[in-house]
Amino acid sequence: MPRDVRTALKEAMARLRAANVPSHTLAAELLLMYALDRDRTWLFTNPEFPLDPGAVVAYFALVARRAAGEPTQYLTGKQEFWGLEFEVTPAVLIPRPETEHLIEVALERLGPRGLKIDMATGAPSPRLRIADVGTGSGCLAVALARELPHAEIIATDISAAALDVARRNAARHAVADRVHFLETNLLEALLVSPLGPHPSPLDVIVSNPPYVARNEAATLAREVRDHEPHAALFGGPTGVEIYSRLIEQAGALLRVGGILVLELGYNSADEVRKIFRVQPRWANVSVTNDLAGIPRVLAAARI
Ligand SMILES: C[S@@+](CC[C@H](N)C(=O)[O-])C[C@H]1O[C@@H](n2cnc3c(N)ncnc32)[C@H](O)[C@@H]1O
Repeated sequence: MPRDVRTALKEAMARLRAANVPSHTLAAELLLMYALDRDRTWLFTNPEFPLDPGAVVAYFALVARRAAGEPTQYLTGKQEFWGLEFEVTPAVLIPRPETEHLIEVALERLGPRGLKIDMATGAPSPRLRIADVGTGSGCLAVALARELPHAEIIATDISAAALDVARRNAARHAVADRVHFLETNLLEALLVSPLGPHPSPLDVIVSNPPYVARNEAATLAREVRDHEPHAALFGGPTGVEIYSRLIEQAGALLRVGGILVLELGYNSADEVRKIFRVQPRWANVSVTNDLAGIPRVLAAARI
């Protein structure tokens, strides 16, 4: 049956709704934009544009995959984060909006140190050394590199496949010369042999580590549980195990006054706070809520 933009969209929305896809209207639109290589404005100003049969087949193949649970972002290969478009593949976590709070908190904590020029003297600010642990798509590393032109960033991940995606995202956003990628367990490679261009101490460490408890797998949406990389999701039996190691390593690598900024799981704030109480190197611990009111970002200063 021949279809135009409006009828194709209507049919796709109905199929996605029947499959209980959340935000089915948005998904139908995004997939059609992708299949036709058009933007949203074009879609809405050309409702009667006739689709050629090949486009219809391609579009409904995508709709079928979405209905079966594949996230829209893995089908279109992209997700926006901090106003930038990132390539995503099933090798990386899809960047979440709440993770943008890490950037906000890091920039707030840096204050004038985040400025490229020292406002008092007019001289260039000293170079900032930042690490992003578990970089995934590279969203945090790339966004920080874009915000802080005087920063050199080391981005680690245990997944070589994720690092390949992150490297392409750094190149896409023209920061590949200042973001260095390292395949390692948390920050281990830095502890063993500080890299040439990145001698410790570091000024800032950010991380959105895997923090879902193993026994919470069943509570995750099928899009997440069945399609996003498990190494990006699960942090151990309780979900907080990885924080202890990360906080200890961060304490060894940050300079005095350096800042650690961590994303928290929806129920992990209390447990993670406890780790800071037993490790003596930290002060000025703060927790920031996300837009849903969930404690989402913990920041602390190295003393
Ligand atoms: C929750 S994802 C975060 C990805 C990205 N930073 C973001 O915010 O979208 C966690 C990332 O940490 C990586 N990871 C898991 N365990 C790790 C470890 N022990 N050392 C380094 N990276 C690890 C995963 O491969 C994944 O890319």
